Amino acid sequence: MSAPTSGRLADAAETLAAGFSTRRGPAATRLLLGVVGPPGVGKSTFAEALVARLTAHGSPATVLPMDGFHLPQAELVRLGRRERMGAPDTFDVDGFVATLAAVRADDGAVRAPLFDRAIEEPVPGALTIGPEVRIAIVEGNYLLHDTGGWERVGPLLDAAIALEVPEEIRLDRLVARHVASGKTPEAARAWATGPDAANARLIAASLARWPGPLQTLALD
Ligand SMILES: Nc1ncnc2c1ncn2[C@@H]1O[C@H](COP(=O)(O)OP(=O)(O)OP(=O)(O)O)[C@@H](O)[C@H]1O
Ligand SMILES: [Mg+2]
Repeated sequence: MSAPTSGRLADAAETLAAGFSTRRGPAATRLLLGVVGPPGVGKSTFAEALVARLTAHGSPATVLPMDGFHLPQAELVRLGRRERMGAPDTFDVDGFVATLAAVRADDGAVRAPLFDRAIEEPVPGALTIGPEVRIAIVEGNYLLHDTGGWERVGPLLDAAIALEVPEEIRLDRLVARHVASGKTPEAARAWATGPDAANARLIAASLARWPGPLQTLALD
């Protein structure tokens, strides 16, 4: 993805990268850094910017998006959950947890699925995290969610960052992104203010309850 990096985003990514590139977990494990926040806040964009800078600092890193663990459309239809795709129970949380544990344990190369927005389907095995990767930037909505199996995710992260942008900007970007992936402007706004908004409220509530350390990063 091309990463439009505003000044603040670029500066924050650089500062974090400088700090994390000198940090090491126990020799045989990788560092997992979580980037969390509501739909459209800029998690994927920020994670890509961070990986670029970590790699430039000599710490090979990769983005591991939670999005890849979307259940396939056919399974959502079977479960009657297609209309609320993106809710916590529309992901393969067990698969996500198993992948995070494998990445963390440094089981050599680890394969993960990626989400293809054009077809709105996960693509199995589309991402390989090679043995050279020492830091995984795990990004997604429910990293610090505390029910439905998600409660196993937070403890696998070494650190977590919650992104914030002014609500109006977030909504505009979210609608624009939905339009870019094929929705009409009306459908895009309806999805952003319907299912996306419900998920944003869930995320805000789980972040407020999260008992561990959490750095908040205000972007624009
Ligand atoms: N700093 C920025 N400046 C301008 N545009 C941005 C910035 N950050 C993100 N965007 C744009 O806003 C939209 C949403 O960003 P992004 O896809 O990174 O959010 P996200 O949090 O990953 O969303 P989702 O939860 O839906 O996956 C994208 O179109 C992206 O290009
Ligand atoms: Mg994203």
